[in-house]
Amino acid sequence: MGVKFIKVSVCYFVIGVCLGMYMSMTEKFTFTPVHVHVNLLGWTAMTLAGLIYVAFPSASETRLAKIHFWGHNLALPVMMIGLAFLISGVSAAGTAVAIGGTVMVLSIIIFAINILLHVKN
Ligand code: HEM
Ligand code: HEM
Repeated sequence: MGVKFIKVSVCYFVIGVCLGMYMSMTEKFTFTPVHVHVNLLGWTAMTLAGLIYVAFPSASETRLAKIHFWGHNLALPVMMIGLAFLISGVSAAGTAVAIGGTVMVLSIIIFAINILLHVKN
């Protein structure tokens, strides 16, 4: 799970900085919330989770780790694409943001439970 998280996270890093560069070049900052969460939930949070799983294999081999990985990775695109449409004026996309955001929060809670239960020194 650790290596998978790290590999996915660098893809979000590329998308996040490209969006940041686009916003700077066009001076259009309406997509800042998408940029922020692609970078922070996609790059930073996933890299940290990946490094934790690499450091503590006992936590990375559990069913909770799998649920966390798939929850995080299914929720983020739904949330980000939904948010981009919402910002662009498609109000129905709010449902996607709500569903994606809820699944994301649940995945993060599962991650926390996994770490608390399975990381031992
Ligand atoms: C080449 C890389 C990047 C570029 C060109 C870039 C560009 C930008 C731009 C243009 C804004 C909007 C500023 C505004 O609204 O006044 C912004 C906001 C932001 N960026 Fe980036 N960014 C980059 C990388 C990153 C990375 C790697 C992260 C986090 C890991 C990040 C986190 C943020 C945050 C948190 C904000 C919101 C700041 C606020 O609310 O005031 N950015 N960025
Ligand atoms: C499911 C998880 C999350 C949800 C539902 C969420 C939701 C939100 C919302 C609704 C806003 C206000 C957007 C706006 O003002 O337009 C926001 C802003 C922000 N969030 Fe999150 N967030 C989440 C996770 C995170 C995480 C993990 C980080 C950092 C590691 C983070 C960093 C930020 C920052 C820096 C801003 C300010 C962005 C700006 O200036 O536009 N968020 N978030």
